[in-house]
Amino acid sequence: MREAPQITRQEPVGTITPINTLLLLLRVSAPPREQIFLLHARQKGSRRGRAEILETGVLSANPNRHLSRPPCPAIAAAMNAPPKTFHVKSFGCQMNVYDGDRMGELMTAQGLTATDDQFAADLVILNTCHIRERATEKVYSDIGRIRKESGKLGGNPMIAVAGCVAQAEGAEIVRRAKVDVVVGPQAYHNLPDLVARASRGEAALDTDMPVDMKFGHLPARRRVPPSAFLTVQEGCDKFCTYCVVPYTRGAEVSRPFAAIVDEAKALVDAGAKEITLLGQNVNAWDDEGRGLHDLIAELDRIEGLARIRYTTSHPNDMADGLIAAHRDIEKLMPFLHLPVQSGSDRILKAMNRSHSRGGYLRLLERVREARPDIALSGDFIVGFPGETEADFAETLSLVDAVGYAQAYSFKYSPRPGTPAATMPDQIAPEVMDDRLQRLQAALNRDQSAFNASSVGKRCAVLLERKGKLEGQLIGKSPWLQSVHLVGDAAIGDLVEVEIVEAGANSVMGERVAPI
Ligand code: 5AD
Ligand code: SF4
Repeated sequence: MREAPQITRQEPVGTITPINTLLLLLRVSAPPREQIFLLHARQKGSRRGRAEILETGVLSANPNRHLSRPPCPAIAAAMNAPPKTFHVKSFGCQMNVYDGDRMGELMTAQGLTATDDQFAADLVILNTCHIRERATEKVYSDIGRIRKESGKLGGNPMIAVAGCVAQAEGAEIVRRAKVDVVVGPQAYHNLPDLVARASRGEAALDTDMPVDMKFGHLPARRRVPPSAFLTVQEGCDKFCTYCVVPYTRGAEVSRPFAAIVDEAKALVDAGAKEITLLGQNVNAWDDEGRGLHDLIAELDRIEGLARIRYTTSHPNDMADGLIAAHRDIEKLMPFLHLPVQSGSDRILKAMNRSHSRGGYLRLLERVREARPDIALSGDFIVGFPGETEADFAETLSLVDAVGYAQAYSFKYSPRPGTPAATMPDQIAPEVMDDRLQRLQAALNRDQSAFNASSVGKRCAVLLERKGKLEGQLIGKSPWLQSVHLVGDAAIGDLVEVEIVEAGANSVMGERVAPI
């Protein structure tokens, strides 16, 4: 037998004209479901306690969707109140962090206030990532959790799904999770308009990939951290057979030179000391024959900007000029993230990586010649369809040959719609687990060795945040190591440090003198 709904809490949300009209929120728990019902009543006659029920419905930011009939104006007014506070939750890569920050700036420019408490916000923007395993399912469970936890506090936030899952799922998210706004990564400059449309109870979905880029429609940068991101390029034409990015982020597009330089200057004016240029294929950036190294050379001239980084690069787009920039431009930090994915030529071919193991190793030799102290990083996938133990051994031997300072490694996970998802010889989960463990042991060994080799070195550290311990500050070395130190300095300071101790994931520094 079904359990009878039990009302656990009831809270008035206010009196709305005409006089004597009351809106009530009723939380009704009928485990496992919990819903907030809305009751619109009017006092009847002169006797207290007698009321005439005018309207009931399930509370939603979009009344048309949930009410059995169109709401009366009073309910519509209460339900359609535009959000006043917002919270952006970003998942995945640094490009998503950048997009999330910019969406926040857009909403702030609309007069909304940011809140750190995701369950107390009137508008929650889930800026999703599609790369990880079960990414889509995680978004749906996140939406459910936000509704539940916010509901416990009496809230019913408007939910906007942005990012790559929004792009891939589109209207399916509205159908399955009844969210209010769906916006793709190339369309988020329209977020204020979409939120306004959702507030009026209208459909609010935009997954277009317009040719004119969104950047021209975003507000100016005002307050930024000492180390700031700047997206210069989006999308990917490489079509690696396992990857969704070409489908969710679209074709490779570069932002214009002048717009990037202007944004970099604005970032420095707003407090940035370091800028990381971002792109899915950042080293494919170009503007009428100018390459990424020309852009870096221009940024090098910005006074007040101390450090330049870029990520993520593709081996095939590593131009001679960019390699030379690592030798010639002091502000360009000695760090290169250059994913290889596998050490086996057979697997690289199946992945459609369009570079070979030998080509990758020769490229790194040239980079090291230009900048001998450069720290190298990479991405790896284990268990790609058809990967044999011999293929995997080639990946381990490539790791040994390179000696990465840090790296990311993943188990292959099939992404619907990508060629690899339907390839034969998918690898058993336990084989993937075993290979991932062995690969990570090798990468951790090399990372610890790299950190240990920096003990005794002096370097500049850009302080980015406070540590957990009293007086502790955490910053980054030129080689992107996390440096922990205690001392009299402030976030945003660039301080001279001697590295005195090394751990697996970070190093300890002692302040020498300010730079
Ligand atoms: N399975 C596992 N890892 C993947 N990556 C991208 N797509 C997949 C997938 N389907 C990894 C690659 C890429 C990084 C951002 O994520 O290593 O470089
Ligand atoms: Fe994905 Fe390959 Fe493009 Fe990187 S280069 S974004 S892995 S398709």
